[in-house]
Amino acid sequence: MNTADAITFLRRLRAIRQFRAGAIPAAARDDILDVARWTGTAKNRQAWELVWIERPETLRAVGAVEGYAKHVAGAAAAVAIVMSGDVVWEEQDVFDEGRLSERIMLAAAAHGIAGCVGWVDGDGIEAAKQLLGIPREKRLRTFVSLGYAAEQAQPARPGHGGRKPLAELVSYERYGRQSRS
Ligand SMILES: Cc1cc2nc3c(=O)[nH]c(=O)nc-3n(C[C@H](O)[C@H](O)[C@H](O)COP(=O)(O)O)c2cc1C
Repeated sequence: MNTADAITFLRRLRAIRQFRAGAIPAAARDDILDVARWTGTAKNRQAWELVWIERPETLRAVGAVEGYAKHVAGAAAAVAIVMSGDVVWEEQDVFDEGRLSERIMLAAAAHGIAGCVGWVDGDGIEAAKQLLGIPREKRLRTFVSLGYAAEQAQPARPGHGGRKPLAELVSYERYGRQSRS
């Protein structure tokens, strides 16, 4: 892949929540998990474990718990990110989890597989832990749904798409300075 292709690949990563039928090949699964494994963490703590889920009944059950992970129900697979619960510094944990999620999505995209982050919330956290047999002391918040994008899959819900132009978010050398010279 040349530089232009690599940049296009990175920039094109979007959240996809609608999937068509199609199982994820074992080779893709293994690549996704291996790229995830190599994600950098603060102090190299690697304070996480992953649960790979592909049984449709489990995916549907996860998608039904309280939170924002309904898209897991229709996915071919999902990864549950299980944090150790041994929180030294909350922000570190959340940051690491974000990096890991993005890596999972990028490795999946390299295989033509789409996906989306989904958080469980409220009672959904304990419910999802029970479903997956995750010990209570562990922390569970993030799922990444994975699958082949449906024909009609929209990269963004109305009102949620697009990005701010660079001019609105980047300053040069000093906050608020728009000029590069
Ligand atoms: C930290 C984080 C949490 C997110 N949580 C959810 C979620 O719970 N449910 C969901 O459907 N999407 C979730 N998303 C996906 C975002 O809604 C999505 O990245 C954003 O709308 C931009 O989508 P786009 O890249 O397709 O434009 C999350 C994304 C991030 C980075």
